[in-house]
Amino acid sequence: MRIVATKELATSIQCDAIVVGCYVGGEMQRAAGTIDQATGGAITRLVEVEEISGKVGELTKILVPSGVKATQVIVVGLGDRANLDRRAAFRAAAAPAKLLASKPRSHVAFYLDDHWDGDLLEAAVCGAMLGCQGQDLYRAEKKLTPFEQISWAVQSEAALANGRILGDAVSLTRRLVNEPANKIYPESFADAAADVAQACGLEIEVWDEKRLVTERCGALLAVAQGSTRSPRLVILRHNGGQAGDAPLAFVGKGVTFDSGGLSLKPSDSMKTMKCDMAGAATVMGAMQAIAKMKLPLNVVGLVGLVENMVNGDSYKLGDVLTARSGKTIEVLNTDAEGRLVLADVLDVAVELGAAKIVDLATLTGACLVALGLDTAGLMTNDQGWCDELAAAAQLCGEAAWQLPMFPEFGEQITSKVADIKNVGEGRWGGAITAAKFLEEFVQGKPWVHIDIAGPSFSDGPKAWLDAGGTGAFVRTLVELATGYRN
Ligand code: BES
Ligand code: MN
Ligand code: ZN
Repeated sequence: MRIVATKELATSIQCDAIVVGCYVGGEMQRAAGTIDQATGGAITRLVEVEEISGKVGELTKILVPSGVKATQVIVVGLGDRANLDRRAAFRAAAAPAKLLASKPRSHVAFYLDDHWDGDLLEAAVCGAMLGCQGQDLYRAEKKLTPFEQISWAVQSEAALANGRILGDAVSLTRRLVNEPANKIYPESFADAAADVAQACGLEIEVWDEKRLVTERCGALLAVAQGSTRSPRLVILRHNGGQAGDAPLAFVGKGVTFDSGGLSLKPSDSMKTMKCDMAGAATVMGAMQAIAKMKLPLNVVGLVGLVENMVNGDSYKLGDVLTARSGKTIEVLNTDAEGRLVLADVLDVAVELGAAKIVDLATLTGACLVALGLDTAGLMTNDQGWCDELAAAAQLCGEAAWQLPMFPEFGEQITSKVADIKNVGEGRWGGAITAAKFLEEFVQGKPWVHIDIAGPSFSDGPKAWLDAGGTGAFVRTLVELATGYRN
């Protein structure tokens, strides 16, 4: 997809469709005004009869308008001008892109608001790219077809380039999540990571099974042993800061398929479990964007890749594992595998000298029960660091909400036979007992755990995004890295 800046008039640009913006109250943007004039007040009349309200993402089609070269104009609502933020800009661009991509179109021009610049424009460009990309990777007849070219009415071009980087990053994450588990498994994920690293200049190190054994990653290896696919741990480094600066660490859960193991999931819960590597995919997307933006800091991205399966060698209930840190873990549910994988990866992050850590994981169904489908759970051992992350998410328009980490939750994971066990007492507060387990492996480093079981994957489509992988929290991580101070 080409993304180019244009200074052409909305009425004279040669393209398949042009998208213009209108705020609540009928306040038209310049291009909308130009179109309105050319059409003898078509938009004004639509506003008058309340066909157009200006609500964010509202779409109104005007076909073959007189005096306009494009064969159709889409008027998109930009919301209340007072509430204009990146979330509104993203949706206002993504919704018309999704609508227009329902047929192959080679060139679409966006004239949302030519005063938008910087963050708003970046969010909009990112939204336009993502809105037209679908989950139907393996369908001959696509529901959505990305445009060959997007033209954008802008004052400066810098934000276009950044928006594109963000769009490509979120797109990478979505594609990795949408690929089925017979295509993306630990080894092929690691290969994809190597391609990304090569293309954008990240340092990469891949630990294979043999190395994982010598590194004593007993918890991660136990999960992997029930699968014929061998596990991997991928370490990506962006060295944009001073040589000695302790890096920021992003850690991702990369369970390429979660059958539940011997604590087998019922089919209904299992059918979308290709998404269980979304944390790892999010780290990949963020690292790619950070490298391409050449951000001036050191970041290390670590992803633990395993398949949680059942065979004669599967890890069992009652097994006691020794994690890399030396802690012993009693396994009482093989479906609580993500925390076992992360236990070892977090230990590596600490050993690599991480100054601060963020982990992302599709960790618990309990987080879905607590916060619903679209909100991520935040859990932390360091309120200041969590506040920073929450502020970044808020800026990006990504929904996140903090859950408490009271010591009582930690008492639930004490074991009679080992240092800790991998599940709490019963189901209640399951998102938090999982986080309490992870906390055992960060050695007091400032750490935030983001449970993305809900927002990383959606069963149904939204008006602005197809169903499937969403790429949630890629932008938040990039924002966090952008504002990060050592
Ligand atoms: N990958 C699942 C969590 C999940 C559920 C992700 C729904 C996305 C959507 C995780 O490995 C899991 O199975 N968690 C268990 C933990 C339990 C056994 C303590 C769960 O949530 O049921
Ligand atoms: Mn599981
Ligand atoms: Zn899982």
